[in-house]
This record gives sequence, structure tokens and C-alpha cells, in this order.
Amino acid sequence: MKPRIPVAFWVLVFLGMGVVQGCSGESDSKLQEIVSDDASDTSEIQDIVGPEIASEVIPDSAEELEELVPEVVEPGCLTPVPTRIVDNNPDETFDLGPYLMVPTPTSIVIKWRTLEEEEGAVLFGKEGTDEFEVLEGKASLIHAVLLEGLEPDTRYIYQVRSGERTSLEHHFYTAPKPGGSFQFAAWGDNQGGTPFFDVVDAVTADNPHVIIGLGDHVPNGQVVEHWKDHWFGPARALFHEVPLFAAIGNHAYNGPTWYDLMEYQKLSVNPNEETVYSWTYGNAFFLVVDTNGLFFDVGNMETDWSKWIKKELESPEAKAATWRIAYAHEPGADEESWAEECGGVLNTGIRVWLLPLLEEHDFHLYMAGHVHLYERTMVGNILHVIGGGGGGGLEECETPSPVSTLFVRHFFLRGLVGCDSLRLEAVGLDGEVFDWVELGAGEPGNIIDQGPGPNP
Ligand SMILES: [Fe+2]
Repeated sequence: MKPRIPVAFWVLVFLGMGVVQGCSGESDSKLQEIVSDDASDTSEIQDIVGPEIASEVIPDSAEELEELVPEVVEPGCLTPVPTRIVDNNPDETFDLGPYLMVPTPTSIVIKWRTLEEEEGAVLFGKEGTDEFEVLEGKASLIHAVLLEGLEPDTRYIYQVRSGERTSLEHHFYTAPKPGGSFQFAAWGDNQGGTPFFDVVDAVTADNPHVIIGLGDHVPNGQVVEHWKDHWFGPARALFHEVPLFAAIGNHAYNGPTWYDLMEYQKLSVNPNEETVYSWTYGNAFFLVVDTNGLFFDVGNMETDWSKWIKKELESPEAKAATWRIAYAHEPGADEESWAEECGGVLNTGIRVWLLPLLEEHDFHLYMAGHVHLYERTMVGNILHVIGGGGGGGLEECETPSPVSTLFVRHFFLRGLVGCDSLRLEAVGLDGEVFDWVELGAGEPGNIIDQGPGPNP
């Protein structure tokens, strides 16, 4: 990396950042004004497109000038999904990580674990520019450094440092502005299976913006080292570069390591809880539920979680999003599903309490794991997908599903969350898309395209 400029302690504010030429409606209308007045007035044109572009060509017409200016993105217009570059550069400098958590348009948290208590620091900057340094300010084993004042939808280069060691160079992207489209990868139930290595390779090559974990990522979450051996270790390179939003599964056994390693406490009902939370990314609102606990009303009594979930479903973020998506470890489809006939078990709280509530609040998609197969079905207007093919031993089904689209294989889900549609693809380890479904924006339950498999 280039010589660094130590700037801040804890919190860093970039002055003068955040201005993206040609990307605001204001610039666009100013541009039209200038073009109408006199297209050859280069000084004003320079103010908008910058001196480099303006000096290359002096445009003769509005059309020609428009070609020089980056496409104007209207608020709420989300396509196309911006391309990401995910480097496959596994780094064993530290026991765990570095890995990325809770990206927003202007901030991100970088975490890593050391074997001894040491102070940490993060060095970062946009590629080809000066580098900044944020100090952690205390010695610890689990390091979490918040970077703030960043530009939206932007690639940064970073390294972390503890004691005498400095990591290799990795990258992160900030989240897009509200309304931005994006791509996610989701899977559950790798839980120690060796096909997980192939899942990780396939996902890394797919360059997703975020990872959605559908639970059961370790065989036994009480065993601290399982989180390294079966999750953060095999997916080391991927997590250096792509943020993770995981749901807790039954195999986590509510072990304390989950709470040490995740970073969802500010998204949750209180700082001690990190298993039921919500997050917003670009054009989508996500609700994440813990199917191990009492997230639903019991009798006529509300639980802390059920109260909080109801409030979140009414939040401005949920209402403003183009897409409303929920996920948890356990599925909730019953007669619409064949998963139970393949050895799976549904969660009654999801079935009886959450799915009707989600439908009431115009949710488009519910994703789960737990059953080690792929299944796509509809529960009312909600697309219900099981993505439990992350690497654990597969289920066995005696007969093909007469009620859903079901495949028993290892795979991951690719979500293309766009402006007019949300396309969910099931991707095999050979890269083949073996099933897909595309929802139209607006009213939930509008399937505009789907795979040719049995789709009752
Ligand atoms: Fe499970």
C-alpha cells in the first residue's frame, strides 16, 4: 500500500468526500439548462463533467453532451446490478478474519481475531489514493473497528494490523444508496460437510455484494474452533471481501462464540441480542429471525421478539423498500411443501405466526435452510425457498414432490435484486442454474418467469 497518513482515532471523517459528478438530479437539470443556453460554454460544462472530459470534446448538441455525462440515476431506479470484484486471496496472518460486517452506504465494521490480546488498527483508502488509519484504542482478542464517512457503493482497499503483524491487502465495498440494486448469495447447512469448499469457491467466483447465511454453519456452535474450522476458515477469502448477514441455526446451540463473532447488536432489539434483527441494503428490507427462540406470540401474550418484529414490519425502512425479504433457519411451508417427506421439519411459529404477518406486510420472499435440499413453493403470495444445500449430508426423498419444485443437491442461491424484478437462481457447484424464479416488483406473488421443473 502507499505511504499512510495517520489521521484519526476511533472515528474518521472524510472532508470533501461524497460528491459524485453527474450522478445527481441537480447536476442533470443544470446541464439541460446550459445546453439550452449555449452548448459551447465550456466553463460551465467543466463544472459539471470535470475538466478532463470537457477538454476532450466540445459538444455541439445536447445529445452529444449527454453522451459525455455518466448516466443519471433517478432515486428509486435500481438497475442494472453494479458489478463487484471479489478477490480470492486467503490470508492466514490472523487466527480469524479480517471479515466484514454491517455495511451501510457510509460505514462498515471490520473484525478479526487474534490469539493474544493486542491493539488493532485498520489501514484503508480508495485505490490509488492516500491511506487512512483507524486505531482500535484498546487491546482485545476480537477486534471490531468501525470505519465511517465513506462514499456509497465504492470499493476500498484495506489491511488490518495487530502487534507486529499486518494482513495482506483486501477490499470492501460500501452499500449502495437507498434504492440501489444488488446481488446476494445465500445458503444454509454447510455444518462441516466437505462440499462446502466447492460452495465457497462457486460463491467467490460469483462476486456477490453480500452473503446471507441461512443457519447451521457449524456442526456445534458450542465448540469455539468449529467457527474457524467449518465457517470462517474455509470461507476466509470470501469473508475478507464480502459482508455477512447470518441467521442462527439449531446447530449453533446458542454458543457464546456467535455473539463474539457477529456484529448485529445495533440492528437488533437490544445490544445483548444478535439473532433477531433487521437490515436495509439498497432497495431491500430484510428481517432475520431466530427459529430457536420465542419470536412469536405465545397464547395471547407477546414476547419481546414478537413485539419488536411487529414494530419493524411497520417501520419506514420496510415500507419504503422495493423488496421485503425475511429469512431464518427453519422453513414454514406445510401442505405446499414436500420437505417433511424428505426428512425435514417445519417450524410451527414461522408457519402459523410469521408467514401470515409477513403476508399482511407485503413481503415478497421467505428463505430458510434446515432441510438439506432445494425447494421452491408459494405460501399465499410469499415465495418460500429452502436453501439448505450448503454442504451438509443431503436428505433423501422417496418420490418427486407433487406440490413444489424440489431438487436434492448441493448449491447456493443467487439473488439479483433489481428495479423491476427480483430474480432468485439456484446455482449448482458446476455453475449450472438448475432452477430460477423471477418476481415482478410491487404486489407480492407476481411470478414473471420460472424454471421449467415441476411447478405445481
Ligand atoms: Fe438445522
